[in-house]
Amino acid sequence: MDTGMMDKPYKHWQIEQDEENFVWLHLDKADSRTNTLSAAVLTELEDALNHLHQHPPRGLVIRSAKDNGFIAGADIGEFTGFDSQHAALEAIQRGHRIFNLLETLRCPTVALIHGYCLGGGMEMALACRYRIAEDDPDTRLGLPEVRLGIHPGFGGTVRTLEAAGPLTALNIMLTGRSFSARAAKKMGLIDYAVPKRHLLNAARSTLRKPPKKKPLAWWLTLLNHKLLRPWIAKYMIKTVAKKAARAHYPAPYALIDLWQHYADDREQMLREEAVSVANLLVGRTAQNLIRVFKLQETLKGLGQAQENKPNYVHVIGGGVMGGDIAAWCALQGYQVSIQDREHETLGRVIKRAFALYKKRQKIPRLISTTLDRLMPDLPGHGLARADIVIEAIFEDVEVKRQLFRDIEPRMKAEALLCTNTSSIPLEELAEALDKPERLVGLHFFNPVAKMPLIEIVRGKNSSDENVQRASAFAKSISRLPLPVSSSPGFLVNRVLMPYLIEAVVLAEEGIPLKVIDDEAVEFGMPMGPIELADTVGLDICLKVADILSQNMDISVPERLRTLVERGQLGKKSGQGFYAFKKGKPVKTPPDKDYIPPTDIQERLILRMVNEVIACLHDGVVENAELADAGIIFGTGFAPFRGGPMHYLQDRGARQVYKMLEQLQQRYGQRFAPSNGWQAWLEPEIAQEENDG
Ligand code: COA
Repeated sequence: MDTGMMDKPYKHWQIEQDEENFVWLHLDKADSRTNTLSAAVLTELEDALNHLHQHPPRGLVIRSAKDNGFIAGADIGEFTGFDSQHAALEAIQRGHRIFNLLETLRCPTVALIHGYCLGGGMEMALACRYRIAEDDPDTRLGLPEVRLGIHPGFGGTVRTLEAAGPLTALNIMLTGRSFSARAAKKMGLIDYAVPKRHLLNAARSTLRKPPKKKPLAWWLTLLNHKLLRPWIAKYMIKTVAKKAARAHYPAPYALIDLWQHYADDREQMLREEAVSVANLLVGRTAQNLIRVFKLQETLKGLGQAQENKPNYVHVIGGGVMGGDIAAWCALQGYQVSIQDREHETLGRVIKRAFALYKKRQKIPRLISTTLDRLMPDLPGHGLARADIVIEAIFEDVEVKRQLFRDIEPRMKAEALLCTNTSSIPLEELAEALDKPERLVGLHFFNPVAKMPLIEIVRGKNSSDENVQRASAFAKSISRLPLPVSSSPGFLVNRVLMPYLIEAVVLAEEGIPLKVIDDEAVEFGMPMGPIELADTVGLDICLKVADILSQNMDISVPERLRTLVERGQLGKKSGQGFYAFKKGKPVKTPPDKDYIPPTDIQERLILRMVNEVIACLHDGVVENAELADAGIIFGTGFAPFRGGPMHYLQDRGARQVYKMLEQLQQRYGQRFAPSNGWQAWLEPEIAQEENDG
């Protein structure tokens, strides 16, 4: 039977109707690499669903025509366009209406999923009666909305609870994690995980003979009982509070509230979900987190792939950084050799790599395939095969130069040479090379497997092409490339150091360590500066501080030096500023009647902001957006504040400047506004003159 669907002139959806009267809706969002649920995509879907309500087929399949995945969620680009809560609510209620149309179709419906199925895409799948996903490592399903400062908003909260039961569903939505097809099946998010070759048949046979849906286990339904909900909610709030403060990240709390108050009444919970998400969406946290998502996309965009994709990476230096870089590159699919002078060092590299792969890959077959790609290479045979050579030996100009002289003649003519130096100007190293334009800095952060940023350091001689190659390489190993100029500390360490030093100065003044850390965490930093210094290693902090103090107006606090001289290096030695027990710092609370000074946060944070302005003035980084991205992804700077420069603009540059002047009067020159402030003050002054 023809439902008349085929004549529909859609831009984003392709429609197919087969001989069994199954309708197949293929989403292929026009002018886009990725399927998202933009307003235009939803408008067409609404039209199609209205039509299907009038002319029901025997079954409906929704799938994606794009290779990379099903649907990556609602279109985040449209999240910033709302001028009021009311406008946001209208858009969300429209989504509700459309998914409701899908849910109430009289025929069986299947979401056929491959690649990523996230956010609104997952919510759409949940509105179908059945969900079938490809059993493949590339399939990722989840509801990552909390990471954008919201929660599912197209009926997803209700439908996830129905599919997976309250504990699992809340856990999925509160963490924002994504899952493999098998894990999603176990949790009840999908019905079947099948290999690619069976996908189409699985959809057809499901539609031909729709299987009965199993109801949730009785004890899971029981957890929704109104007498139990307050207790479970209380426990969940306590768990969430350990990770994110309500004042900074309201979304997880709003989600728990929603469930606690409305889980009894489906219709009301749906209505309240829309209101709650509209409130969150126009709030500052969500808008700043959306900005962070966009900054991340900007950095990814800087790593556009090159024509000749490298295959082989050779790393020289098997210390913690070099070893971890090599292990990471192998995990990301590269053939890698790791060279060092000592057997034992290479043994340690492989041991650490094995631990990483075990944690990430779990399946023995995958782990051994990855290990096969990581070759310990005492004599350095891999050098001649490598497309990219990464030097990660200790920080000594002359030793590095000697190494470069030695290896350059043995490298492929077109191979890229990268150094992981964190302190030596590239120009000094490039002097040793015949082709100085081939040298680019790749400044990884520790721990390599966790830190998403790599500073791509451009020396005076580095060619544009090689900087681009290095950026593309960073992207290809799932890292965000941030181009910076070769100058002391580059961006991240240069900005971090005044903040860490100020924390040590505060400690020297007698402020309890825990108070200093708590103030930073309250601002939104992931970890306080004292704990951070202990975690990074005080010897490393001292080294960076010493190098920076040669070029910048910073003085290294005596206390830092003393601790290092005593061998109290932080977490790794079990004692730094804090004593460590089982890898955790022992933090002594201050006396009950202790009243901390009121300007601790200002002292810590404004030293960072001041330094970012100096970096922009000195051209270390190209613009304020990239500076914000670098500081967020390199230091974890309070993401919900949108980055240090965004924070400055939010608060008002003039106001921050005045505070800095006050701090300068109170504490001295280190708070003197750096060069470059004028560019931030002038627009505000001009605006005030215009207004007044
Ligand atoms: N809204 C708008 N655009 C999106 C998007 C979304 N939800 N998800 C991905 N995109 C875009 C990216 O901006 C990028 O655009 P470009 O082609 O103009 O550069 C493109 O899709 C590819 O994404 P990219 O991030 O470069 O690919 P990836 O393979 O590294 O990662 C995802 C893919 C889907 C995992 C990642 O983009 C992601 O996490 N997206 C957000 C998912 C999300 O939070 N959804 C919930 C929204 S309610």
